[in-house]
Amino acid sequence: MSLQSRMVGVGAFLPPGIVTNEDLGKLMETSDEWIRQRTGIEERRWVAPEVSTSDLALEASKGALEDAGMKAEDIEMIILATLSPDHDFPGTAVFLQEKMGLAEIPTLDIRQQCTGFLYAISVADQYIRCGTYKNILVVGAEVHSKGLDKTTKGRDVSVLFGDGAGAVIMSATEVNDATKDPHLISSSLHTEGKYAKELWLQAPGMANVDTERLTQAVMDEGLHYPQMNGKVVFVHAVKRMSQCLTKVLENTNTSIDDVDVFLFHQANLRINQKVADMMKIPSEKCFNTIQKYGNTTAATIPIGMHDAIKAGVLKPGMLVASAAFGSGFTWAAALWRY
Ligand code: UT7
Repeated sequence: MSLQSRMVGVGAFLPPGIVTNEDLGKLMETSDEWIRQRTGIEERRWVAPEVSTSDLALEASKGALEDAGMKAEDIEMIILATLSPDHDFPGTAVFLQEKMGLAEIPTLDIRQQCTGFLYAISVADQYIRCGTYKNILVVGAEVHSKGLDKTTKGRDVSVLFGDGAGAVIMSATEVNDATKDPHLISSSLHTEGKYAKELWLQAPGMANVDTERLTQAVMDEGLHYPQMNGKVVFVHAVKRMSQCLTKVLENTNTSIDDVDVFLFHQANLRINQKVADMMKIPSEKCFNTIQKYGNTTAATIPIGMHDAIKAGVLKPGMLVASAAFGSGFTWAAALWRY
């Protein structure tokens, strides 16, 4: 018998505002055909102006609590992954804590972009297995729409991203039979900082050579919008996601056949198809949501988990394998029994 962590509740929230590829074609030179062919995306969600990242996180968290049959007061720590914080500081988990009405529990923001959710569950797992906390709320939440260059200049990035949030409650559990009992079995986390500038948001930032962190000149240059070298990111994503997923499966003596559902990060359907082809993963085992939501960065995996459960694809007792890649570069994989 050993103390482990498991996911006892899953929630998601997507803002109601649907933005189709045709809608984007009215803002910039792009087309439904280009976006679908290159990425698989058909539509994404954008928030109303008054909605923040912590608002989306709150709704997803409520769903996770309800699913777990728990009250907000049962939560002992919040870990929130986002690259689109409510404000530069304090962290977004602080605002979520206040909105949930929780008193004085610790909060932690994770800044690992598309890989953020897998980093976050791994951190939660450590706290739980050490016996420090029993119930941790882990959230991935993003509002991209307010931070994108919606002109033709920014089209390579802006058509990809959407707003949304997903949350899980991770709780302590005694594992008697590791081949049957639900728990987080293994995770593998990586970073290669030399590629940081291949996908980044340069400004505002203290490393910029200026006396102010944001100037009109910087904004005129568009440096306050994300910049990406798409082809480099694509190649590394395919290589790293397959590499670290293979490692996690090998380390746990797990075969592709053993895994019931593969939940990949949702950056580009073509990336996921290439990873699946390389690893000989049957496409029916891969659950993708990018067609409806675009890339919601730290939120894609918990949203995918939520939708897979609702669709009857992911059921209690099933084995889930996940892999993600993104800005940093960071990448990660994890294996858990739900
Ligand atoms: O989760 C974060 C990680 N991000 C990713 O994983 C993204 C990885 N990269 C990708 O998914 C792909 O590189 C993209 C989908 C971003 C781009 O696809 P691509 O096949 O690499 O296209 P490209 O950048 O080589 O651009 C091809 C053409 C260019 O025109 P020219 O130079 O051939 O005339 C672009 O200007 O497509 C043009 N283009 C567009 N056209 C219509 C770029 N963006 C668009 C657009 N609509 N939105």
